[in-house]
Amino acid sequence: MARFPASGFLLLLSLLCMQTPSRSARVGWESVIRMPTEEASSAGEEVAGTRWAVLVAGSSGYGNYRHQADVCHAYQVLKKGGLKEENIVVLMYDDLARNPLNPRPGIIINHPKGQDVYAGVPKDYTGKEVTSENLYAVLLGNRSAVNGGSGKVVDSKPNDRIFIYYSDHGGPGVLGMPNLPYLYADDFISMLQKKHESNSYKEMVIYVEACESGSIFEGIMPEDLNVYVTTASNAEESSWGTYCPGMFPSAPPEYFTCLGDLYSVAWMEDSESHNLKLETIEKQYQMVKQRTSNYNTYAGGSHVMEYGTKSIKSEKLYLYQGFDPSNANVTDNNLPETTTAHRVINQRDADLLFMWKLYEQLDDSSKNKMEVLKEIQETINHRLHLDGSIDFIGKLIFGSAKGPSILGDVRSSGQPLVDDWDCLKSMVRIFESHCGSLTQYGMKHMRSFANICNSNVSMKGMEAACVGACGGYNSAKWSPLSHGYSA
Ligand SMILES: *[C@@H]1O[C@H](CO)[C@@H](O)[C@H](O)[C@H]1NC(C)=O
Ligand SMILES: *[C@@H]1O[C@H](CO)[C@@H](O)[C@H](O)[C@H]1NC(C)=O
Ligand SMILES: *[C@@H]1O[C@H](CO)[C@@H](O)[C@H](O)[C@H]1NC(C)=O
Repeated sequence: MARFPASGFLLLLSLLCMQTPSRSARVGWESVIRMPTEEASSAGEEVAGTRWAVLVAGSSGYGNYRHQADVCHAYQVLKKGGLKEENIVVLMYDDLARNPLNPRPGIIINHPKGQDVYAGVPKDYTGKEVTSENLYAVLLGNRSAVNGGSGKVVDSKPNDRIFIYYSDHGGPGVLGMPNLPYLYADDFISMLQKKHESNSYKEMVIYVEACESGSIFEGIMPEDLNVYVTTASNAEESSWGTYCPGMFPSAPPEYFTCLGDLYSVAWMEDSESHNLKLETIEKQYQMVKQRTSNYNTYAGGSHVMEYGTKSIKSEKLYLYQGFDPSNANVTDNNLPETTTAHRVINQRDADLLFMWKLYEQLDDSSKNKMEVLKEIQETINHRLHLDGSIDFIGKLIFGSAKGPSILGDVRSSGQPLVDDWDCLKSMVRIFESHCGSLTQYGMKHMRSFANICNSNVSMKGMEAACVGACGGYNSAKWSPLSHGYSA
């Protein structure tokens, strides 16, 4: 009994990315001198077309508080910017505000000193309705394809602009969804292509926060769809949670979950403190890149990436995020005063941190405490099982010497994760049938499955290796029959 908490705690500590705050260079944007055209635009002319937004939180559960908090916050930013509720579609599980673990019932915050961001957020698609299928139907404006929910879709016209923001866990080639299957990069890009073919928007800007989020676009995002994308991380690294318990800056003591994600709070806090009729998309990209890199340390930070139609960058942000009149007189384009590096946590460790914090604050005599301990043990055991069996499968297929390096191979930038995405999905299903659900944590192994496909391994070969590695694994808790398949 005593062994696991101890080793689990060490594991956790070794994975946490802590660092001492350090002063960083200010970003030297040009000062107050403005072009006459900018003066004119700050006077407030009308935007041609309608501004649409789709906001997606891909997770559920109090341990993932930060993703839905990010999305609620984004809604408030856009609403203050003047976008209409009827033009903002929100997909979020909506299990936080009334969650028994929420210390402030009915309220969600996205900053340690932040105000409520939950009030007013429309419940377009919640709970079981938050699926990648519904997301595609919403974006394509196909009301008849939507399953449940408010039926609100992006009914956009050729002159309209669309802003998409997504926050959650991810892995190579995939983004999480609170209901399986995950969102796969090829399906998402096909959807964008379809939208483009339907000639129903002028331009689109997409912001994505997730681990390995660059892999959704790397090598497969066309540049001629009039879609500009930035992602929290490149194709092979974690993205980071922030405002976590006990870190700097910390969540208030009564919260034992992280309140936000680094890239997400970086763009939103930037938008809230600037005049978006003056600030270009490029400028926000640079600032967010700077802050998300943890001020160029990359210690507990990630590489913000950009994809798609780069010419869109020179446009002003208000065309997508609207304009808050209270920022009309902001001319200083420097970062807000917190230029110290943040302590942050790897997305995949944030749920363990949450469970440990929950465990620590429970009364020793509480029956719950033992249950939480059991949950931590099972979670760590399943993670070790996933890591171990994938390693084993690689050795069975490619030999013990070459297995690990083939599975871990990262293709050069500009190349897609996998050539045959259907193969990737099939390999995931075969694995889960024999070895149990991948879970959020297991998404990180998507690259192994991709490399198995890239090496032309047959389904039969994969099946045999999975049986060999996991034949004896029998855990109802992690069975895909109860969780659903990830692909
Ligand atoms: C909308 O979805 C329905 C149901 O999935 C489908 O049959 C139809 O072709 C779709 N319409 C468009 C315009 O894509
Ligand atoms: C911005 O400055 C103008 C001119 O000084 C002033 O009339 C206006 O109230 C200011 N707006 C805000 C939001 O501070
Ligand atoms: C896999 O098959 C494709 C198509 O037949 C071929 O081009 C490629 O070289 C093969 N890859 C490997 C690693 O064998």
